Amino acid sequence: MKKKVSIKGTGSCIPGRIVPNSYFEKMIDTSDEWIVTRTGIQSRRMIEPGQSMSDLATPASERALEMAGLPPKKLDLIIVGTSTADMLSPSAACIVQHRLGAKNAVAFDVNAACPGFIYGIAVAQKFMQDGSHRHVLVVGGEIVSNRIDYKDRSTCVLFGDGAGAVVLGHSNGNKDGEILATLISSDGDLWELLYLPGGGSRIPPSYQMLDAGLQYVKMQGNEVYKYAIRTMVDAARQTMKSKKITSKEIDWFIPHQANIRIMEEVANRLEIPMEKVIVTIHKYGNTSAASIPTALDEAVRAGKVKRGDLILTNSFGAGFTWGAALFKF
Ligand code: ACO
Repeated sequence: MKKKVSIKGTGSCIPGRIVPNSYFEKMIDTSDEWIVTRTGIQSRRMIEPGQSMSDLATPASERALEMAGLPPKKLDLIIVGTSTADMLSPSAACIVQHRLGAKNAVAFDVNAACPGFIYGIAVAQKFMQDGSHRHVLVVGGEIVSNRIDYKDRSTCVLFGDGAGAVVLGHSNGNKDGEILATLISSDGDLWELLYLPGGGSRIPPSYQMLDAGLQYVKMQGNEVYKYAIRTMVDAARQTMKSKKITSKEIDWFIPHQANIRIMEEVANRLEIPMEKVIVTIHKYGNTSAASIPTALDEAVRAGKVKRGDLILTNSFGAGFTWGAALFKF
């Protein structure tokens, strides 16, 4: 019989530097009013120069381990969902393993853009269901602030930095919660709608690459917007249907925080009232793979999300990739 998996602890780390919309008003042709109405973002957090993804992922993981009451040496798997690891190689997960002192874990990254955390949960569940891995750390972390072109007003106002983590263990019954269902999907035919061209093997780093600004995110926002709504709704519906759960039974909905209008439309189509939607986009912007685990951790620590609550999450991002997870906390 497949073993059940539950969330034992959550943690997050958001950088301290607050960047309000007024910061961009001084640099490009934009306004606080445009950004707030079109995206819901009032400010975002960014790292200081010299900081890297693992500087956020490590404390987020330590907090999740502390809540779970688990020493790092007991971890047997670390999965980091990120597309902005500290370096192209090695993986962010190996750096986090080193910094935690999680000697007994195997560690690897999942590069699935914004749904990286949901992908990580889905992969971890597979490793845990046969009982071979007992204690798993899943992180969603991202530093987007140094991958955006501050001259491109259609992207630079959207993103922020952050990291969130959960510690998973086997579930001992009802009191413990359970990951009920996960669904992950991709469509590589659509990769050119959202991508970061430079720095990989196709366009390796060079002065020409930098001059052309190919080290920055490129996005066709309108197209992304449409696909995001459709796929997030489909993934959520399928995930709930697989467990015969209706949206009325959901206690909290934590969608990827990309744009408040996308979140409102997805919630509306799923018939989930906004009072049940956890929203952090106004203060953190779009933190890609970090948006769901940081929102979850904040809601847990604020006493909003309680043990036994039924939670639905879904996400969408570059690839295209998308997915959903349904769990009892
Ligand atoms: N300030 C002022 N004007 C702007 C800005 C800005 N920051 N950005 C764009 N505009 C202008 C455009 O140039 C355009 O002007 P025009 O009509 O003169 O051509 C006008 O505003 C409307 O532009 P649209 O792109 O149609 O604006 P829209 O309402 O679609 O909002 C946005 C743009 C916010 C990017 C939206 O399309 C969106 O959120 N898309 C989804 C993006 C997303 O979720 N990406 C991330 C998913 S994956 C991941 O998280 C990594």
